[in-house]
Amino acid sequence: MSDSPTALQKIKERAMLTTKDALKNKDNCTIPAKAETETALAYTEEVARETEALYERVAKVITRAEWPSFAPYIYEINKLKKEKNAVILAHNYMTPEIFHCISDFAGDSLQLAQQAAKTDAQVIIQAGVHFMAETSKILSPEKTVLIPDMEAGCSLAASITAADVELLREKYPGVPIVTYVNTSAEVKAASDICCTSSNALAVVESFDSDEILMIPDQYLARNIAKQTKKKIHTYAGSCEVHERFTPDSIRQFRKAWPDAVILAHPECPPEVVELCDFAGSTKAMSDYVTDKQPSRVVMITECSMSDNVAVNNPGVEFVRPCNMCPHMKRITLPKILDCLKNMSGEVTVDPAVAARAKLSVERMLAVTA
Ligand code: 13P
Ligand code: SF4
Repeated sequence: MSDSPTALQKIKERAMLTTKDALKNKDNCTIPAKAETETALAYTEEVARETEALYERVAKVITRAEWPSFAPYIYEINKLKKEKNAVILAHNYMTPEIFHCISDFAGDSLQLAQQAAKTDAQVIIQAGVHFMAETSKILSPEKTVLIPDMEAGCSLAASITAADVELLREKYPGVPIVTYVNTSAEVKAASDICCTSSNALAVVESFDSDEILMIPDQYLARNIAKQTKKKIHTYAGSCEVHERFTPDSIRQFRKAWPDAVILAHPECPPEVVELCDFAGSTKAMSDYVTDKQPSRVVMITECSMSDNVAVNNPGVEFVRPCNMCPHMKRITLPKILDCLKNMSGEVTVDPAVAARAKLSVERMLAVTA
């Protein structure tokens, strides 16, 4: 890529996109089709009055003009979830109207798993992707776990099956299998322990073995390999969002914003991570900004992260390189309302599989406790 002033200007313009801009940008991702059943709710005076405080919270990332399309859903969802004794667990990649306006708990994969295990609510609405809802169900089999869109998948979860894990066990006899939570219940059940991007190193170090097989994310595994003396065997899975960041793009961001701190998710290739100032889970990146208050930050991760962290950090300027997860973006306010109203989208896991998967998840939670 050329370093001419025009090229630099283009990089700057593209990187200032918000999630909403990215949703309109067809080059950036496949936009999930709008549910045909969606009929817009009315923005009444009551809705406007009751949601005003929430609007003020997100005014930095949602315009006044957009608010009437979100507010009626927010109002209905917040009323209904109390009536149904439901909690909404939202991942850091949810759009800000979900993350800040209707969630009862928001965080990274590890935090959501921990929260699912301890909530008293009878119904969990998982505002995230399918493997997250399955993890909640595995930890709370007696609860009703709903996902607003069953198609909200993950390229990592889709990259491996339980049969693949059995073949890997034969290939690496006696080597502990550490499995990223971004996998199906069956894959978790076939593994020795789970990990998230928050605790992957601690989980790897918790074994006496000198060799570990880390599946399915090759990049997370290679990033962890750089931090441990153990030999890490990898598998060929990858996150379709984070693998798209390139070392060249990081160099361009450095050039365009020399004063910016660059943070990356460890699902990015190691060649990208090594050019950044810090790598960590979505929670770790969010905490970095909150604790250190850099004047300008670039988050090498999914689009909504910057929007959500920006709301709580008004003094920090965000550059938004923005690769969007099309699976996370399937979760919308109308679908969440539908889910709550009809108790639809129930996630079930075969009890025998769930029992074995739970052992892998609980072993992980014990390491981080
Ligand atoms: P975190 O555990 O860091 O939230 O990551 C989950 C994920 O899917 C990132 O792509
Ligand atoms: Fe999966 Fe990547 Fe989307 Fe996370 S961002 S849910 S790892 S596809």
